[in-house]
Amino acid sequence: MPTSLVCGGAGYIGSHMVRSLLEEGERVVVLDNLSTGRRDFVPAEALFIQGDVRDGELLDRLLPQHDVNAVFLFASLIKVGESVSLPLAYYENNFVGALRVVESMVRSRTPHFIFSSSAAVYGEPEAVPITEDMPLRPTNPYGETKLAVEQMLRWASEAHGFTYGALRYFNACGAIEDATLGEVQEPETHLIPLVLDAAIGEKESISVFGDDYDTPDGTCVRDYIHVMDLARAHLLTLDALRRGGGSKIYNLGNGRGFSVEEVIDACRSVTGLPIKVVRAPRRAGDPARLIASSDRARQELGWTPHYQSLESIVETSWRWHRKRRGGRTA
Ligand SMILES: NC(=O)c1ccc[n+]([C@@H]2O[C@H](COP(=O)([O-])OP(=O)(O)OC[C@H]3O[C@@H](n4cnc5c(N)ncnc54)[C@H](O)[C@@H]3O)[C@@H](O)[C@H]2O)c1
Repeated sequence: MPTSLVCGGAGYIGSHMVRSLLEEGERVVVLDNLSTGRRDFVPAEALFIQGDVRDGELLDRLLPQHDVNAVFLFASLIKVGESVSLPLAYYENNFVGALRVVESMVRSRTPHFIFSSSAAVYGEPEAVPITEDMPLRPTNPYGETKLAVEQMLRWASEAHGFTYGALRYFNACGAIEDATLGEVQEPETHLIPLVLDAAIGEKESISVFGDDYDTPDGTCVRDYIHVMDLARAHLLTLDALRRGGGSKIYNLGNGRGFSVEEVIDACRSVTGLPIKVVRAPRRAGDPARLIASSDRARQELGWTPHYQSLESIVETSWRWHRKRRGGRTA
């Protein structure tokens, strides 16, 4: 079987990807500096190497040594707010990291690359659902680094003859069914883990920023896509690249928006616990709605997200969250 190198495979989405690749019979090498990832997220069936994607010499050894056929780049700094105060760190890690990986791939003639891009490349959209051909106008350094990598990939792939998939995730969420992997951020910034922390009393309450948006209940609407559905879309993209298709850019979202209020209600219903809500003013730069059109991925890859309802997503998050927080339920 071919070998994939998963950079950032000890992190939240990367570790789910590693599991999915192993289930397909792929050989997997994980490269991760463990800045936010966890060593125990990488199963024994994968070869783990602790190292940094900016280390070109290490990559130059790894790619030929393991005869790598495809590189996945999940490794990245991911906090939008932090990127505003530390833009250079974001360019260094996210852009220079991708550059080093692609340079090494070109030297070793590695044929395929799959990049974790983001809905942040669109900034504030003119309309929803957002399609891939809408204007790319990031509103923060995090989104700019993702866009810069996408632009670099376009030129480099044409010049050097590799193919790539740039996958623009919306809000990744949920956990693998057996609750052996899941989301861990310190400090936590994603909505579902924050609400579940409020449910178990790890936090006193959940803040809702703005309830006067032009949405049915006044709170912001976002597109939540389950992490295993994301992993499946990566497998299908890899398959399409290997079958000789050209490079691909896909939005990966559920195509359904859910409001902050709906997420909190789903968490109440799944956990059976009360969740205290505190109303707070709007945050600057939060668009009212961000919803993906994933029609292109659905049509070209035959991808259909399996987790359609909020409850089915939150159930998997809850199973993981309880385990992570040591079985606490209130
Ligand atoms: N979580 C989301 O909702 C979301 C949405 C859109 C895009 N993305 C993208 O998906 C990817 C994965 O996100 P995640 O939520 O799993 O984050 P994560 O922080 O859990 O995973 C990132 C992993 O990369 C590793 N890493 C970071 N910098 C590295 C470096 N220089 N060298 C080697 N390893 C390094 C970290 O240790 C970690 O294991 C990121 O590229 C992110 O921008 C995530």
